[in-house]
Amino acid sequence: MEKTDGKKTRVVVIGTGAVGSTTAYTLLLRERMTELVLIDYNAEKALGDALDMNHGLPFTGRTKVWSGDYPDCAGADIIIICAGVGQKPGESRLDLLKRNTAIFDGIIEQVTRYNSTGILLIATNPVDILSYYSFRKSGWPANRVIGSGTLLDSARFRYLIGQTLNMDPRSIHASIVGEHGDTEVPLWSLANAAGLPVSFTEEEKEEIFRNTRDAAYQIIQAKGSTYYAIALALDRICTAILRDEGAVLNVSTLLNGYQGITDVYLGVPSVVDRTGVREVLKVPMTEEEAAKLAKSAAKLREMIDSIGN
Ligand code: 2OP
Repeated sequence: MEKTDGKKTRVVVIGTGAVGSTTAYTLLLRERMTELVLIDYNAEKALGDALDMNHGLPFTGRTKVWSGDYPDCAGADIIIICAGVGQKPGESRLDLLKRNTAIFDGIIEQVTRYNSTGILLIATNPVDILSYYSFRKSGWPANRVIGSGTLLDSARFRYLIGQTLNMDPRSIHASIVGEHGDTEVPLWSLANAAGLPVSFTEEEKEEIFRNTRDAAYQIIQAKGSTYYAIALALDRICTAILRDEGAVLNVSTLLNGYQGITDVYLGVPSVVDRTGVREVLKVPMTEEEAAKLAKSAAKLREMIDSIGN
């Protein structure tokens, strides 16, 4: 439990659609905080979720759960934003941009009215751009505005490598960097199982990466949206923050002179602790990998420019 020294810890989840409610439920099951607040523009939905979760408390722990409103962001340690419209089958994450920035304008304004010290954790797509947008709009330091980034993509990558090698994905260390989306980049040069480089044919690599990159499309096609794995990824980030872990996670963060990339948010290996992103790790990569990352950054910069930031 993260209930250290009887200290209150509060996590607010804004947007209780599939991702937000599954994330809240995951945090609740794992007893990550003492207070969990659910906020949704549809107050009835948040109320229903809070009641439903409260009725499970006899089977879990003593977390206080309620549906609230923006004043409840006061004193929150982490504010997770999952609000927004989701991808429809065949739609790219970037197609969502304009609709979701409008939604974020209202949310960031409200959150920053009541909180100035917490950590904003962004999950809504396109996550890298909305994280950058939230960083600019909030005026908060970049270390306290974090996107879920390529943490989920890296998990999919590790899972698929593990499947191919018949090994536990937790023993596989492998990174996807760049955009959480179509231009993301696999760092094959760093992929290893217990320090041993993984050796695959080009065909195998291509297939593993394709299945990693296109996983969301496949799931959305099959059931409309993705939420279990992203909820676990968000739980992982919250845990690194609340436990002051210093865990290396591929979150979306502000890059400044990273492989020549500046002033965009992208998923890269970052040290996450109580302060948020404490450090961005400049991991080695091949020239080809760096060139692909630069392309990913250029695409995101173009999208940011298109919304006038
Ligand atoms: C995912 O990758 C759709 O971004 C979401 O699962």
